[in-house]
Amino acid sequence: MLLQNIYSSRILILDFGSQYTQLLAKRIRSIGVYCKLLAWHASENEIRAFNPNGIILSGGPESSISHDSPRAVNYIFHAGVPILGICYGMQVMAVQLGGVVQSSSQREFGYAQIIVTGNSQLLPPIIHETKIDEKIVMDVWMSHSDHVSQIPSNFIAIAKTETCPVVIMTNEKKHFYGVQFHPEVTHTPQGLSLIKQFVQVICQCKALWTEENIIDDIIQHIKNQIANERVMLGLSGGVDSLVTALLLHRAIGHRLICVFIDNGLLRLGEANQIITMFSNFFGLDIIHIEAEKRFLDALVGIQEPEDKRKIIGRIFVEIFEEEAVKLGNVQWLAQGTIYSDVIESGITSASPAHVIKSHHNVGGLPKNMRLKLLEPLKTLFKDEVRKIGLKLGLSRSILYRHPFPGPGLSIRILGEVKKEYCNLLRSADAILIEELHKADLYHKVSQAFTVFLPIRSVSVIGDNRKYDWVIAIRAVETTDFMTAQWANLTYEFLSVVSNRIINEIHSISRVVYDISSKPPATIEWE
Ligand code: XMP
Repeated sequence: MLLQNIYSSRILILDFGSQYTQLLAKRIRSIGVYCKLLAWHASENEIRAFNPNGIILSGGPESSISHDSPRAVNYIFHAGVPILGICYGMQVMAVQLGGVVQSSSQREFGYAQIIVTGNSQLLPPIIHETKIDEKIVMDVWMSHSDHVSQIPSNFIAIAKTETCPVVIMTNEKKHFYGVQFHPEVTHTPQGLSLIKQFVQVICQCKALWTEENIIDDIIQHIKNQIANERVMLGLSGGVDSLVTALLLHRAIGHRLICVFIDNGLLRLGEANQIITMFSNFFGLDIIHIEAEKRFLDALVGIQEPEDKRKIIGRIFVEIFEEEAVKLGNVQWLAQGTIYSDVIESGITSASPAHVIKSHHNVGGLPKNMRLKLLEPLKTLFKDEVRKIGLKLGLSRSILYRHPFPGPGLSIRILGEVKKEYCNLLRSADAILIEELHKADLYHKVSQAFTVFLPIRSVSVIGDNRKYDWVIAIRAVETTDFMTAQWANLTYEFLSVVSNRIINEIHSISRVVYDISSKPPATIEWE
């Protein structure tokens, strides 16, 4: 069977650091077109090598007025492909092509209604149907204080608001477009249609990025890459490693060996559940390694979250390498790394300073690792992995489980990790999750868990004074895990969970609810 090249239609996003850049990439993928993020300072060679059908300049936090603010390499304006600048991306395009950007005392943040005064291929035809007082209007979402005050020559301005004279600018001949608002957020109702106009109509990209095509492509790639060699996969039970396992199983059958490491940092009953499900239901061969002591011993005296992550990552790899030696004839280590892990680890990021936490499956691998690394999901976002998982026969209840970090409970126990703390935290977590299911709330929050605080607080039970540990409940709502709101769980619900935790777990004296949103507070406490 001759496979289509699903990467042959592709969009490049130059990332100027907007919090919506990943969302933008997901939107483009959702309409069936492959896209890749490169940092704004990508070189001409890198861009030529990617050879995109169109380029999008993302929004960003800087002010384009400042002379040392990020600029794209000038080559993009001579590459002969359409360009769409969004927010900061539009301003940077204006400045680089000879226009002027001004700062304004009036910041537009949130919903705005723009008046469309001209026509463009970029505008979805439907917008012409919304008129107020004979003016064509469009609802959008904006977040800016600077604005383009003078457009570059050969551009025309085709939309404005009361305070912003240029909301859309176009050069139809060159296919250069700038929009001051954010079409990638759902608060801009016509935003996706506008992105479709750019990607499908203007850049003429074909919709090849479909689940079936992605599965075929990944399987073919694995076959080509692995040939007759053997692969070991660390099975964590998370969606990413699970989908990786099924893809590999399809591609190379028995040359896949799964290793499940119980590091003592898993949730209650998780190890058994995973082994049973995978070997009985999916028929995979799994080597089960009991390594709680090894991990906990290595974590003695370690306080720093990043140190914990690195140690855990290192031991995982050491164990895999030892298993590989025992098995003999294994050349590859597979991992379920996905695109967001790569982006968040700063590999594509606008600046290394944007690295907030190193994900252990990306940052923690030793340089001298003897096994070759295979990461079949590396270009996919989580929602794409889930859709593929469904096609491969995984159930929704598995695919839509809340995410669980690779370093496990170690980053939910503040400071030093001890077995006693792990056991207490596991029990508290199981109560929270059980109650969320009972109240039909589990899938209404994006992620919920408990955190162990190694501080003692006083409680009174009967006539006895107790001096015991504290548990925090963390529950968030988010679509992309880059930003998140604390979940508005009812007092009744929190009260049930708190009572159960305090009554059923003897060494817990107090339960608190975390009401911090991200940013600034990350979802995990460490
Ligand atoms: P933060 O805490 O950065 O978390 O707001 C965002 C999402 O990532 C998960 N997370 C991790 N996952 N290794 C992982 O595999 C890690 O080191 C790690 N740190 C955070 C977190 O659970 C949330 O879903």
